[in-house]
Amino acid sequence: MKKTAFIFVILCALLALQVKAQEQEVPSLKAHFQGKFEIGAAVNPFQLRGETGEFIARHYSALTAENCMKPEALWRPDGTFHFEQADALVRFARENGMKLRGHTLVWHSQTPRAFFQDEAGNPLEKDALYARMEEYMKAVMDHFGDDVWCWDVVNEALADWGDGVYRTQSPWFRACGEDFIAQAFRTARKVAPNARLYYNDYGLINPPKRERAVKMLKWLKEQNVPIDGVGIQAHWNMHTFNPEELQRTIDAFAELGLDVQFTEMDLSVYPPRFDRSKPAEKLEYTQEISDLQAEKYAQIFEVLNRNADKISCVTFWGISDRFTWLNGFPQRGRTDHPFLFDRDGNPKPAFYRVLGEK
Ligand code: XIL
Repeated sequence: MKKTAFIFVILCALLALQVKAQEQEVPSLKAHFQGKFEIGAAVNPFQLRGETGEFIARHYSALTAENCMKPEALWRPDGTFHFEQADALVRFARENGMKLRGHTLVWHSQTPRAFFQDEAGNPLEKDALYARMEEYMKAVMDHFGDDVWCWDVVNEALADWGDGVYRTQSPWFRACGEDFIAQAFRTARKVAPNARLYYNDYGLINPPKRERAVKMLKWLKEQNVPIDGVGIQAHWNMHTFNPEELQRTIDAFAELGLDVQFTEMDLSVYPPRFDRSKPAEKLEYTQEISDLQAEKYAQIFEVLNRNADKISCVTFWGISDRFTWLNGFPQRGRTDHPFLFDRDGNPKPAFYRVLGEK
């Protein structure tokens, strides 16, 4: 009996060693892209410990806070700031020699309603809101200082449809019109002259939204507004992704003299349209889906590699299929599989295609 137990323990140890050895053999993503562009991931502080922390440090050279550097995480209506969570990220990035993207300063979402109001709950007018904007940027950008490499200064200010350029229902737009965008960049440059400043949005490879973005960026450039680059969020899906439109978008932004970053990449296995009245339909991650996703990722990185001189960073909006906001969004009860690593952190066929292997 004892002998059997002993053999069992030895076998388990050998198996563990083999698994470890296999893990070691997986090439590091960041090592592969070194010298081309940074490879980033969006993370939350609880993920930075233990094996997940090691995994992050091994594969990614840049970090974005998925939530803990947004106004709702940092700012309270009583005017106090709370940096503990974000500071954990800063420490991790420092310890592991990683770059940090600041996300995000001026946004209609995940910003407390009180941010846009006076103490009596009345909406702030333009000048008062600009004063709050400056106060906020001063506190936040001073706090992080040079630990943050670049900031998403304005997030998602463009309209998704219609004839207008801007998202008019944003509280920023309602109080200030489109001028808040120029003001945000000017204020950010004044407060943090060393930071690289980005405009960040989704849907930018769709022609109508790209045209809106180009219009806005030209308008900013004409006024000499300090802006260094554009963040293409890259929340895509494997059914409608189009490499030609991606190339056109990179060209359009680079022609304006702007750096291009991919800031929130994920490639959903679900089609973009679904019936919201019906319960979530869960897709099984079949070989067929895996192959198609691998093919689409190969197409994406073929374009990115070809344009590496115009791109400084490519960030995934999560770490592996276990950690993605798409598990539950846009439909609850639905899991997604948008990344190069599966739920256990093992590389998927897409990973090897991205590394240029068949
Ligand atoms: C998302 C986070 O992933 C979620 O955890 C959170 O509940 C909502 O926000 N565009 C952005 C990101 O700029 O900040 C969003 O992140 C995803 C869409």
